[in-house]
Amino acid sequence: MTSGVLKIHTQERGARLGDLFGIFFEDLNHAADGGLYAELVQNRSFEFEPIDRPDYHALTAWEKVERGGGRAIVKVESSKPLNERNKHYAVIQIEEAGDGVGIMNLGYHPGIPIRSGETYRFSCYARRDASFNEPVRIALEGADGRVHGQAEIVVESEEWRRYEAEFTARSKDLSGRLVLLTRGEGRLFLDMVSLFPQRTFRGRPNGMREDIANMLAELKPKFMRFPGGCLVHDGSLNAGDRNSMYRWKNTIGPVEERPPRRNNWGYNQTLGLGFYEYFQFCEDIGAKPIPVLPAGYDPHHKRIVPLEELQPWIDDALDLIEFANGDVTTRWGAVRAELGHPEPFGLEYIAIGNEEVGEPFFERYAIIHQAIRERYPDIKIINTSGPFPAGGEYERGWRSAREKGSDFVDEHYYVSPEWMLANIDRYDRFPADGPKVFLGEYATWGNTCYNALVEAAYMTRLERNAHAVGLACYAPLLCNVNYVNWRPDLIWFNNHQVYGTPNYYVQKLFMHHQGDQLLRVTASGIGERQAAPDQPINGKITLAADRNKVEYWDVRLVNERTGEIQTLSDGVIRLSDTEVDRQAGTAVAMVDLTEANLEHYTLCLKARKLGGPRGFVIHVGRRDDRNSIYWELGGWQNQDSAVCSRVNGRGSCLTQHLFTVEEGREYELAVEIQGRRIRVSADGQLIAETEDRLPQIEPLYYTASVEDASGDILIKAVNIQEVPVSVQLELGGMSDESRNVEIHELSGYELNQENSFEEPEAVVPKLREMRIGCSRFEYEFPARSLTVLRIRQQG
Ligand code: AHR
Repeated sequence: MTSGVLKIHTQERGARLGDLFGIFFEDLNHAADGGLYAELVQNRSFEFEPIDRPDYHALTAWEKVERGGGRAIVKVESSKPLNERNKHYAVIQIEEAGDGVGIMNLGYHPGIPIRSGETYRFSCYARRDASFNEPVRIALEGADGRVHGQAEIVVESEEWRRYEAEFTARSKDLSGRLVLLTRGEGRLFLDMVSLFPQRTFRGRPNGMREDIANMLAELKPKFMRFPGGCLVHDGSLNAGDRNSMYRWKNTIGPVEERPPRRNNWGYNQTLGLGFYEYFQFCEDIGAKPIPVLPAGYDPHHKRIVPLEELQPWIDDALDLIEFANGDVTTRWGAVRAELGHPEPFGLEYIAIGNEEVGEPFFERYAIIHQAIRERYPDIKIINTSGPFPAGGEYERGWRSAREKGSDFVDEHYYVSPEWMLANIDRYDRFPADGPKVFLGEYATWGNTCYNALVEAAYMTRLERNAHAVGLACYAPLLCNVNYVNWRPDLIWFNNHQVYGTPNYYVQKLFMHHQGDQLLRVTASGIGERQAAPDQPINGKITLAADRNKVEYWDVRLVNERTGEIQTLSDGVIRLSDTEVDRQAGTAVAMVDLTEANLEHYTLCLKARKLGGPRGFVIHVGRRDDRNSIYWELGGWQNQDSAVCSRVNGRGSCLTQHLFTVEEGREYELAVEIQGRRIRVSADGQLIAETEDRLPQIEPLYYTASVEDASGDILIKAVNIQEVPVSVQLELGGMSDESRNVEIHELSGYELNQENSFEEPEAVVPKLREMRIGCSRFEYEFPARSLTVLRIRQQG
């Protein structure tokens, strides 16, 4: 326990905090379909295809039903479609009526959640053969065939018509099915078979699942970035293609006319949750919308729209702004009004691109940026700086932003908690003029209390650097536990439950108590910063292959202090880690050469790639499989040089540059280590220089702000030590009246604790109040805690 003074200078104001803390929504982990979007039927329009996922087909999630001697042929046809964008429909050809034939939908795993007393809204498009004239029974059933609720529709026409039915379930089954059953003879044609709970968020039709939406609304985010990251730019150039990049105009209007889309996260995206719904949702939860648009460049597949064909992409951006903000006399404002929202949505920000690397992006960004600036000078434009926190592409993004006058640069990094602690001062030296940082995706690898506290510590510093950091949002936001593409995530859900991680509660505290303007804070006597012993990068030197075949030779370790050279290879070292090797169990993916315990040394070697998708992997300072520094040359899609660190199994990219390894070519590589500094070069050319900083633990991480509307003073403090920190809290410049203080405290938990479906609130902040008699009081910040003190101005 230490004793010191934490002084909040309540009359000394700093940067405005603006829209600092928000959220980022992307349809990965089935965040939209099978998640926030409340549709309960999976593959409602029979449009699933292997392009979405190899095992998908038009009847995915559907099964034929034949009861009591009934027989039917169920198939999918496209000769007389509902419309040109929704080509496929189901045909039930009744061979023998029996006790009924039809189809049933299994919903999203493990089924449709049926709740007793809940009302459901069924709808479909249907037509029939002249000979078919029996009613169709719509039922929610359990796997055991028990009926929990039902309704009936009568298909009256041989032309497509929309039918609706509403019914209430009288019992519960969380793995239900939607069964459409009929008798008679002839053929029944079905499309857009849909089931929503009547209760959606704010009761909106085509709306959001209430429990998940409430979790988002309860965060009170200042903004929402959408519709994704990679999901935006991964795709073809033609907006009419199923695998096209995300083109917002495909996502508005009647849901049955929105084309099906391949979601690059390996499933189908119905686009039922489209741009109108996103804007509406943002408005409903009080978050400013931040749409992300592609710039005609897919960095994953190197698809590049020719410059002379860029106009539609420019128009997409300009039209989107008009769609959001134009009055009803404008073309796109009128579209918005027709969809039900004559009032503008008040768009302030637009992002062009997400993590694109490479010149073709920046060339196109510049043109789109200029077109937006000319037509809408007040819209804030967000540029991008790649997927890593440093390096050539990161710098390229910032250069583009400075040259073009972007308002923000979108930075992304997923890192170890240790990286975050080591780099907590990252934005301290960023200038107040020029583009601001939009930290559009960040997280430490994990959903434990420790991860959450480290992120909280980092967020205090984001806030303190509000002169440079304008926007920040954790990623990813949502994950359906039955369809995991990525972890960790802020909020986890299944088909009927949802819970927030400790990281969620940290975000929530920061959003609820962000404040509007920084206050100066000074600390004295609160203890010393704890730094890990300053030791050079030492450990095993290991050469590796990664899904490929490589050879290394002439491997030498040079002691740069003494000039002594140690030969580490005796002939050629061949490594093979191909898919075939992996299957056959014959892979030799790495070889340890020696242990380096030196202050300043260089590993020199020759290398050649013999085959496979990637390049070389060279470890220095490898302690075990979970702790190492390594250089990947020709990593991810054989386009990166990345120097990375791994701490307790959690990786962080320290710096990235573009580099492609040519097969069959000999490379002369060198990795120089000097203390914690790393220099990597190929064929005598320095590729990257970086530092693997060791984590330092501040005695207390803190920030303070004032809220305009209430005048409340907000103090946030994070203590990640094992001992409490006691301070005298001084509210400089405030009178000695007595005041109420709300104390929101996340504390008393083990660092490895997490929330779960079983214990959704195992780790949550607690609220208590205290009364202070004057502007000076003693306060103890518990060990392992985040504390928000809201010092009430009134009451
Ligand atoms: O958040 C998950 C993914 O991470 C995003 O799609 C992408 O922008 C980043 O690489």
